Formats: sequence, C-alpha cells, structure tokens
Amino acid sequence: MYNNGSMNKKIILLEHRPDYRAIYGLNLTVYIGVEVLVAITVREVVKYLEDYECTLIFIDAKSYVIDVGLEVFNHLSKKNLHIPCFIVGQTKALQDVVTVFDSKIDLKNILHNIAKVLNVTSMSMYQAKHPKYFPLPIEFILPGWECACPLYKKVSVEQVAVSSEQVSPEQAADQNYELLFDTGSVILNDTLEALECGDIKYLYVDAKLRLKFVNSLTMQISAKLNDPNLTYTEKILTVAKAYQMIQEQSRRIGIAESTIALANECIKAMNSIIEFSPDLNSLLQGLYQQDSSYLYRHSLLINYIGAHIIKNMNWGSREQQEKFSFVAFFHDIILNNDEMAKFRTDSEVYNSKLPEEQKKLVLNHALDSAKLLSKVKSIPFGADTIIKQHHGNKNGKSLSDISLGISPMAIVFIFAEEYAHIILSNKDSSREIDNYAIIRMLSSKYNLPAFNKVLPVLKTLKLTV
Ligand SMILES: [Fe+2]
Ligand SMILES: [Fe+2]
Repeated sequence: MYNNGSMNKKIILLEHRPDYRAIYGLNLTVYIGVEVLVAITVREVVKYLEDYECTLIFIDAKSYVIDVGLEVFNHLSKKNLHIPCFIVGQTKALQDVVTVFDSKIDLKNILHNIAKVLNVTSMSMYQAKHPKYFPLPIEFILPGWECACPLYKKVSVEQVAVSSEQVSPEQAADQNYELLFDTGSVILNDTLEALECGDIKYLYVDAKLRLKFVNSLTMQISAKLNDPNLTYTEKILTVAKAYQMIQEQSRRIGIAESTIALANECIKAMNSIIEFSPDLNSLLQGLYQQDSSYLYRHSLLINYIGAHIIKNMNWGSREQQEKFSFVAFFHDIILNNDEMAKFRTDSEVYNSKLPEEQKKLVLNHALDSAKLLSKVKSIPFGADTIIKQHHGNKNGKSLSDISLGISPMAIVFIFAEEYAHIILSNKDSSREIDNYAIIRMLSSKYNLPAFNKVLPVLKTLKLTV
C-alpha cells in the first residue's frame, strides 16, 4: 500500500447501515489512510479489540436503539484501554473521556478531528508515496454509485499478455489493471457480486483522482435532477440514470432513507416530465431518443397512463396520484433485469430458460418488492399493499392469477402496466399500434365486472404510434 505515517493503523468503525458504512469506510481509507475494521455490533468491536491493536474507535450511534457509545466506553474502562473513541449522536459515556459530536456534524469535520488525533496532516497525505493505482476496499463500494473517474480491477499476473520486460514500469502497471467502470457509468450490482465471488478484495482508482472519486459519492444526481435548465430529453436521461442507481443499490442494501429521498426527487422529476408531455406519443419519442432500460421506460409510462386514469375516476385525488407514482417507481424493485420485468403470465415464467431460483424470484417479485418497501417508515400509506397486488394477485405470488377484491388502485395499475407493455413491445419490434387496438386487447384479457370502469377512461388517452 502506501506510507503516510498512518500506515498499518487500524480504526474500528461501528455502524450497521450499509450506505453509511461505505461512505465512512471510503473516506477514512482515502483521507486518513488507515485500515478500517467494520463492526455492526458492540460484540464485534470487543472482538476486534482482542485481536488487533487499534488506534481509534469511531461510532455512529444515531441509528442504534441502545446506547452503543456507552457500552463501548464501559468495555474500554473495564479493560483499562486508552483508545480514543469518537461518537456521533447521543450517549451517556463520559464526555471528558470520549469525543461526542452532534448528529448534524458534517463528515469533513469528523475526518479533520480524527486526522488530528492520529497526527495525519494534509501534508503527510500529500507527501505519502503511493502506487499509481490506489486500492479501495470493495466492501465500501456500493452498486448504484456513479463513477466520477474510472474504476479498475487488478488483473492476475498470468493474464497480463505482454511481458513487463518489454515495456516501461508505468506501462506494466497499466497492463495490470483492467477498466471495470468508466467515468459517468453506474456501478452494477451483478459485476460487484461476481468480483466478490472471485474473492476480489480491492478495486482501484488512479491515485491522483481518489479524492474526486470519494467526494462525488453523495448521490450528486439529486442536484442535477433539480436543475431548472435541463431540457425535456436531458431530464428523461437524468431520471433514467437516477432510477438505475436506485435499482442497483436497493438490490444490495435494501431501501435506505437516503434511497427514498432520491426516489422522491426522481418521482417529482418524472411527474414534471409527464406534465410537459402534451401526449403519450411525445413522451415515447423522448424515451426513445436515448438508450434506457425497459424497467425505466415502463415505470414512466405506467405513471403517465395511471395519472390519466386516476384523474378521471370519481375517487381520484392528488394524494392517490402521488401514491400511484410511488408504486410505479418501486413496484419491480426486486427484479434484476429488463427481461424479468417483461413476463406477463406464470406459464411464460415456467417455460422460460431462467434458472429455478430466478423463476421463483419473478413469480414472487410483487410480494418481495412489497416486503422490502414495508420496512421503510416514510412510504405513502398503503403503497406496499398496491405493490403486492400489482399483478392482480392478493398474495403477490403470481403474475396471472387475478384475485377478487383487490384494491381499485391495483386495478388501475394492472391496466396501466399492460397498456405500457403493449406499447413498448410493439415499439421495440417496430410494429405500429393504436389506442383502439390496445383497448380491444385489454378488454378481452380483463373481462371482469370489477375492471370495467377503467376501459372507458383509457379510450380518451391520446396515442398514435
Ligand atoms: Fe412492472
Ligand atoms: Fe411486476
């Protein structure tokens, strides 16, 4: 690794939320140059203290129900260990022994204080010798992040085709690293999982760009989403990227509060796209001007079609429309890829080439997406139930077995999704279809009394493809 005086120093980080753990872990690695040992429980902190010589303990106590700061402090006192302990949030630990930060403190401030205690100065970091490529522990890299600079993986010596004797040391170093994600691309969960299965422990950035990489990880896309100067198509593209970021990250760490905050920005931006679309055809043209996923395209279309239906229902209100947008955004969150979202019936899934495990995932995705969302406090009331019923099955365990007595919002969703799917599959195979033909298909598929209020409303949707 590299030497800046803090080399070999170990800091214990106690934090159970994966998104915070990753941000803290990367910042401590890059700014202070220490090795970070991650603990989720106090018991793990105690174990690290037994196994290693640790220089400092950093605890974010905000999200723990118990006073973890006090428990660690009591342990240190009992064992007579004099290790600096930094705690963010409330604690009853003695404040002249531990350092307590208000929970609103920013990360830079905390890092500054930790650096001071460890005698790390910006000069020592600057003068430190490090290799051309800086190692970042893969455990602190989350899918869904947008890379501000290229991210590499190290290639094993056997894989380097050209002998290093024939090239300069600089070129030889370059050959040892393979580009994984280029600037501006979103880190994919599948790629990270494959690397972790291959026992890869580090990814690499150009050492000169390491601060840029870490500083950009606070989901800056939410600022971009709110940029009033974005054109209609730029907005569609920016939301597509934010949508992908949320999808990727949710699969790894579930739905964090920060995810919901970004999702709400996205939903707001999606609704403004819809408002600026004079008709469905203009929205489609915007969506097809650039490459984006089926998952995103169908979410945006469902939102558009659902808003049209709800506006024309006698029970429709602004609150219901907002809830519907949330459902349109999150309903397939558990699905890994576009192909999984295109299945319409259970038999299509059974007859597909998907491995058994993935077939199960598709068949149960409504239930599992709802479960994932139900853990989040701030979701709109009842949104998880609509997500569970979004294919018409009360238990969320089938794509085609429609139950009696599902919620009216779920019925709207079924029509909106089917309508969106018909448009997208025709568009993808360059077939033309009009509103009349879609209505005919829908009325033969959903010939149920509870469903007959939606079709007349859909007849008023303007579509010419
Ligand atoms: Fe869907
Ligand atoms: Fe679905």
